[in-house]
Amino acid sequence: MIKGVIFDLDGVITDTAKLHYIAWKNLANSIGIDIDEEFNESLKGISRTDSLIRILEYGGVRDKYSDQDIKILTDKKNDEYVKLLEDLTKEDILPGIENFIKELRDNNIKIGLASVSKNASRILEILGLLDQVDFIADPAKVEKSKPAPDIFIESARGIGLAIDQVFGIEDSQAGVEAMRACNMRSVGIGVDADLRLETTQDLSLEKIALYFE
Ligand code: BG6
Ligand code: MG
Repeated sequence: MIKGVIFDLDGVITDTAKLHYIAWKNLANSIGIDIDEEFNESLKGISRTDSLIRILEYGGVRDKYSDQDIKILTDKKNDEYVKLLEDLTKEDILPGIENFIKELRDNNIKIGLASVSKNASRILEILGLLDQVDFIADPAKVEKSKPAPDIFIESARGIGLAIDQVFGIEDSQAGVEAMRACNMRSVGIGVDADLRLETTQDLSLEKIALYFE
């Protein structure tokens, strides 16, 4: 019996992935590295610092940057990203998500968030969804970022449920790996998982319950 659903944020609830890409591309270009959309796929679900480290490794310059340089660069990227968020509105909630959340709430199913984004609460607030989520796992409090399972385990704990009472929804490979690492049932949006759906519009409690139960 499903009692809770754990959502990823970027790419599942809203399409902020394209804003992360713009900000990372500009930051990378400013230090002489170019990234494309294919490389950007490998950054989905990856924390801010780990994303920059991947970019520096991709550019072959990882050893030229100290921890302090990394802090300065990640702050710079985040400043641009937060500016881009100013244009975000309720219209940017991905198709089907509001209906699906309503369906969950109508059925007394708990909702948790397992995003590694430190901007998650702010984004939910902009989208008008903050009061629809029962618990937001704090990425600053978990030891390891996705693909480690920590953030999903913390989110299930926060909504007071065991791993086998919930399923999680992800759009990134790292996120699906994180769920697999703690045996959480997974729905992938455009990515292979226990149950793969092509878009958020395909989400429905009936379909998912049929598959998992
Ligand atoms: C994830 C995104 O949700 O959050 C990543 O998929 C991003 O692309 C990560 O790097 C961290 O986000 P933020 O907002 O803390 O920089
Ligand atoms: Mg995501």
